[in-house]
Amino acid sequence: MAFSFLLPLLFFPFIFLLYQLYYRLRFRLPPGPRPWPVVGNLYDIKPVRFRCFAEWAQSYGPIISVWFGSTLNVIVSNSELAKEVLKDKDQQLADRHRSRSAAKFSRDGKDLIWADYGPHYVKVRKFCTVELFSPKRLEGLRPIREDEVSAMVESIYGDCTAPDNMGKSLLVRKYLGAVAFNNITRLAFGKRFVNSEGIMDKQGQEFKAIVSNGVKIGASLSMAEHIPWLRWMFPLDEEAFAKHSARRDRLTREIMEEHTVAREKSGGAKQHFFDALLTLKDKYDLSEDTIIGLLWDMITAGMDTTAISVEWAMAELIKNPRVQQKAQEELDRVIGHERVMTEADFSNLPYLQSVAKEALRLHPPTPLMLPHRANAKVKISGYDIPKGSNVHVNVWAVARDPDVWKNPLEFRPERFFEEDVDMKGHDFRLLPFGAGRRVCPGAQLGINLVTSMIGHLLHHFNWAPPNGVSAEEIDMGENPGMVTYMKTPLEAVPTPRLPANLYNRVAVNM
Ligand code: HEM
Repeated sequence: MAFSFLLPLLFFPFIFLLYQLYYRLRFRLPPGPRPWPVVGNLYDIKPVRFRCFAEWAQSYGPIISVWFGSTLNVIVSNSELAKEVLKDKDQQLADRHRSRSAAKFSRDGKDLIWADYGPHYVKVRKFCTVELFSPKRLEGLRPIREDEVSAMVESIYGDCTAPDNMGKSLLVRKYLGAVAFNNITRLAFGKRFVNSEGIMDKQGQEFKAIVSNGVKIGASLSMAEHIPWLRWMFPLDEEAFAKHSARRDRLTREIMEEHTVAREKSGGAKQHFFDALLTLKDKYDLSEDTIIGLLWDMITAGMDTTAISVEWAMAELIKNPRVQQKAQEELDRVIGHERVMTEADFSNLPYLQSVAKEALRLHPPTPLMLPHRANAKVKISGYDIPKGSNVHVNVWAVARDPDVWKNPLEFRPERFFEEDVDMKGHDFRLLPFGAGRRVCPGAQLGINLVTSMIGHLLHHFNWAPPNGVSAEEIDMGENPGMVTYMKTPLEAVPTPRLPANLYNRVAVNM
């Protein structure tokens, strides 16, 4: 009796070992840490994965195999191999691995982020490139970005000059998160959920609840995710996913209806993604699943990434007062103390642009990008990558590679004056937005918002560590996760440096 119970437990590892042996004999796989039966390397991976993979690359070389249960994951960590993955073999590596939760959220890839490469993807991607992220629309949405950045400045000013707060530190993330939230919801849904007093309306609260519920149920999956034959023991909570989707669809449809009524009344077309989706859905043959999927893709991909990038940049600027001061001198010279910065000033602020680039080099918010999946057997660096394997580019490690970067750990924006390095997918040493077919479509929008936020924070305030904390003591560790927040949220003391009349929000109604 006891033996019959143990049998499957002995049987499955045996099958796994045979499967591993078959793989090793049939394919010439990249080297890597020895996998355990059933779980592979899952229990050897340290929580901050990109650091762990970079350490393993030191021992095994720039291309490694890591087994998540029975799924092969290949991680490349230098610019040559990044080019092979994202340019030379781009087409064979342009599918996505969908976990069960990603498959549920995206209705099996009916959106953009989780779609495999194929006719649906090409159609939706074209819509995004031509319509959603066109230079014209980006420019049309500029007033929203500038409104939100000025609201951030007003809010920080109000808090740091309140009598009880003088000289006290503020939680920087709170202000950055508000800009990212308001910007992305206005851009996507054409709606500001928060009024000028900072009170969030009912739809905004529902929106926030849906986002956090999505994170909760998405994270609740067990390690059986990586071991398909174990999934029967860990079934998905179908009801929770169905409820979540219904709630998300209900809110989106409700806003869509309000929007349609408002548009009919005003008669004018606007620049929001919502308008583009509603007016162009027939031209591009977009289903309702795709419209809803795309809107929520933008929220997922465009909200945290920008706020995270600015938090890291501010931490580096506080740790490097020389750079902070040099960026401020440039702002004072170009803009002065009688007006605020706008995006039209960017081209005259090369040092500021380099500060943003240097922050994205050292702290890309998605250090392993999003995993790609091989849709055919492919060779990378002479190794076999079987169909169905996941391929990651460790863009964090690539951007710190001492073979291609001088003093890579130093925060030194001047390096980009010595050599101009593109960061939108053309130079494989610097890939915060990825490259190739799946390069981030929101890259320019992200760069504009990040540069504008850093520029306003530096023009309006001096930034110092909290009283009693030295710059060296700021914790530069990362939180585990697909997007990399600072482990310890940054606290800092802002001191206003411009005339008081320049701290008011410049609200636009659009
Ligand atoms: C600093 C800001 C940002 C960074 C660093 C960033 C980075 C990335 C990266 C690394 C990828 C994966 C590329 C790949 O798989 O090869 C990606 C994909 C994506 N990003 Fe961004 N992103 C940012 C901002 C945004 C914004 C603001 C939006 C939209 C509003 C956006 C929308 C997307 C979408 C839709 C995808 C999926 C593309 C696809 O699968 O074809 N991102 N982003």
